[in-house]
Amino acid sequence: MRYLVIHGPNLNLLGRREPKIYGTETLEEVNAWIRERPELTDDSLIFFQSNHEGDLLDCLHSNYGKVNGAVINPGALAHTSYALRDAIAAVDYPVVEVHLSDIKKREAFRKVSLIADVCIQQICGKGKMGYLQGLKVLKKK
Ligand code: DQA
Repeated sequence: MRYLVIHGPNLNLLGRREPKIYGTETLEEVNAWIRERPELTDDSLIFFQSNHEGDLLDCLHSNYGKVNGAVINPGALAHTSYALRDAIAAVDYPVVEVHLSDIKKREAFRKVSLIADVCIQQICGKGKMGYLQGLKVLKKK
């Protein structure tokens, strides 16, 4: 099966960015850890990161009809982007929303996700494990 792993704005700075909240591993290390999970050895994973909303939409659109699902950590776009929500609603594959931190226990503006109800599940507060859990949810579909 073929899955997208999408990271949104500021996640390129993982490891250096607010490490008490997001941990000390870099995005490359997190992606390598995901790629090496034995549960996923038979799957093809496509990793993508962008700080630009439109690039994330283009990534979702261009994989229409090509993947079996996506996990997305939308970063702060979860709280602000109706365009991202519409793109997720538009594509023909299931999407799981992942956040490293527990957005429900942080600032008020983070508690609201505009994409949650167009995603099949939201996983937050589990660190990098959240991506693996999300991919396992997709594999069961
Ligand atoms: C985040 C949570 C968001 O609120 C924040 O803007 C991020 C990272 C997370 O992974 O916990 O950039 O998505």
